[in-house]
Amino acid sequence: MTIPIPDLKPFFLTYDDLGEGPLSWTEFFGNSNPVEVEVGTGRGMFLVNAGETRPDTNFVGMEIEYTEGRHAAKRLLKRNLLNTRILGGDARVGLPKFIPSQSVVAMHVYFPDPWWKRKHRERRIFNDWFLREVSRILVSGGILHAWTDVEEYFQVMTDVVSANPDFFHLPPPEERPAAHDMDYHTSFERKKRKAGFPIYRGRWERVPHSPV
Ligand SMILES: C[S@@+](CC[C@H](N)C(=O)[O-])C[C@H]1O[C@@H](n2cnc3c(N)ncnc32)[C@H](O)[C@@H]1O
Repeated sequence: MTIPIPDLKPFFLTYDDLGEGPLSWTEFFGNSNPVEVEVGTGRGMFLVNAGETRPDTNFVGMEIEYTEGRHAAKRLLKRNLLNTRILGGDARVGLPKFIPSQSVVAMHVYFPDPWWKRKHRERRIFNDWFLREVSRILVSGGILHAWTDVEEYFQVMTDVVSANPDFFHLPPPEERPAAHDMDYHTSFERKKRKAGFPIYRGRWERVPHSPV
């Protein structure tokens, strides 16, 4: 017996659901509110909180693991958070294909997989190519947020961004004690802070795009 997979549209969409690309955000969301994108959404703690507390902003989560993305989408469905959607698929494919240039006010990357083994390092999402995509997608003055508990990966991120003249560094947000068990930015932040790991938080601003 096969168990039917519940239809989570429009909260969970695969790339096959999206057509050719690039997307038109106004058609996609039915409004012209600003759009923020999270790469590697996991179970969706950031997206659910952000979507709920900032109803006048649209949020897109990109998640390669359908099981994780669908779990997050069920939380969006339960709250009917129509300003918040998950795109199931590899962001390395979805970013260039679906996300229009200069259309996003903030990019979020929280606790990207560190791929510990040296021979797997090329699988890391945060690299020169990724940053060029972020640079293309962000509007002038748009913000890139990237957090990790892996000090060495954070140094790589910092080096990659410092080498790119399209960004300048902003002071990172301050850490404050969690008031309750849901008072964390993401599930991984909760897990790592509770285990006593320091968290490295990066924040950078996109310099104005050159006139075309
Ligand atoms: C370590 S988890 C962190 C999840 C969440 N950001 C958090 O902080 O709780 C990294 C997530 O990135 C997703 N991911 C890894 N590579 C990806 C890719 N190329 N495109 C989209 N998602 C990806 C993984 O499936 C996983 O859910």
